[in-house]
Amino acid sequence: MTSPLKNDRFLRALRHEPVDRTPVWLMRQAGRYLPEYRATRKAAGSFLGMAKNPDIACEVTLQPLRRFDLDAAILFSDILTIPDAMGLGLYFVEGEGPKFERTVRSAADAERLGVPDMETELRYVMDAVRVIRRELGGSVPLIGFSGSPWTLACYMVEGGGSKDFARIKAMALNDPATLHRLLAVNTDAVIAYLAAQRAAGAQALQVFDTWGGVLSPAMYREFSLPYLQRIAHELERGDGAQRTPLILFGKGNAAYLSELADSGAEGVGVDWLVELGEAARRTQGKVALQGNLDPATLYGSADAIRHEVRRALDSYRDGNDGSREGHVFNLGHGMSPDMNPDHVAVLVDEVHGYSAR
Ligand code: CP3
Repeated sequence: MTSPLKNDRFLRALRHEPVDRTPVWLMRQAGRYLPEYRATRKAAGSFLGMAKNPDIACEVTLQPLRRFDLDAAILFSDILTIPDAMGLGLYFVEGEGPKFERTVRSAADAERLGVPDMETELRYVMDAVRVIRRELGGSVPLIGFSGSPWTLACYMVEGGGSKDFARIKAMALNDPATLHRLLAVNTDAVIAYLAAQRAAGAQALQVFDTWGGVLSPAMYREFSLPYLQRIAHELERGDGAQRTPLILFGKGNAAYLSELADSGAEGVGVDWLVELGEAARRTQGKVALQGNLDPATLYGSADAIRHEVRRALDSYRDGNDGSREGHVFNLGHGMSPDMNPDHVAVLVDEVHGYSAR
């Protein structure tokens, strides 16, 4: 099971160990921008049809790795598998994104929720992790993931995506006890889910707090941060070089970097609204940093992409006492369907070439 990795740059960077090049992977590296993904999706019929079939999930996970010299694979799945397994009924409407048949709006709704069984209701996810580990054959590490308790709650209360988060913010103001009850059960589920992915073979774990940044600082510190801290404390992940690193990614988390650095997580993912060097100064080497190119950089020319990559690499180094250690290169958020795959190749080439030593 623990065959040595051929490429362990990503895990070494998360342990602040020296690496020959800065490792790079991209959020949403598997997706509609790849013609082979669109072909697989057409044959499978739907996104959920792909995610719930371990062999197809494996195929789609590997697609970007065949094209690009990426240093990690990420499980092809979705954060909304947990509320789906809690019985909310996840479905996708073309062009409108994810939706739930049932929402969580009252104390009674929240009381009905329980932690799903990981090897029955979410077995398809664990099976996908096992198949992908086998098919990767030790080439690069596999990242498992979950949504954050707050970000999951956003979809569960709103019933889908939202622009203003009106319903969940009203719940935070008018019925905070119900929201805390929902966040507590989500946290228990996230911890069990990440532990099960680790047991199935995931070699690193990332929590996506995509919507933490829509909260005021006081609300973030009440409804998102404490639950991230609980995950970092309670999730069992081994010791020393065998420890499975946990990365907390958050959009709009720049104001909370020192608290996130003290959370006990091994890595923090940041968006592009903060200079990486500034993020490194605020986190003082307590965590590795992951990020943080504006995804829209991929709409630029090859020269522009190379320039922006060098700027981000230099910024990190300048804020980290002149050292590149402890940096995982990534975008500040996920890729979009209209991006050009050739530009990804340029980005990866520049990260590896410029950081080589
Ligand atoms: O990074 C990867 O390559 C791994 C796969 C991954 C997906 N979703 C695949 C996916 C990951 C890590 C996610 C997480 C996810 N899902 C998040 C958090 C990360 C982020 O981007 O902020 C969120 C908020 C979701 C919820 C969700 N699922 C949305 C908003 C959408 C997009 C809907 C749309 O129509 O664009 C999905 C579906 C989804 N998840 C797709 C993919 C590749 C697109 C599905 C398709 O139409 O083929």
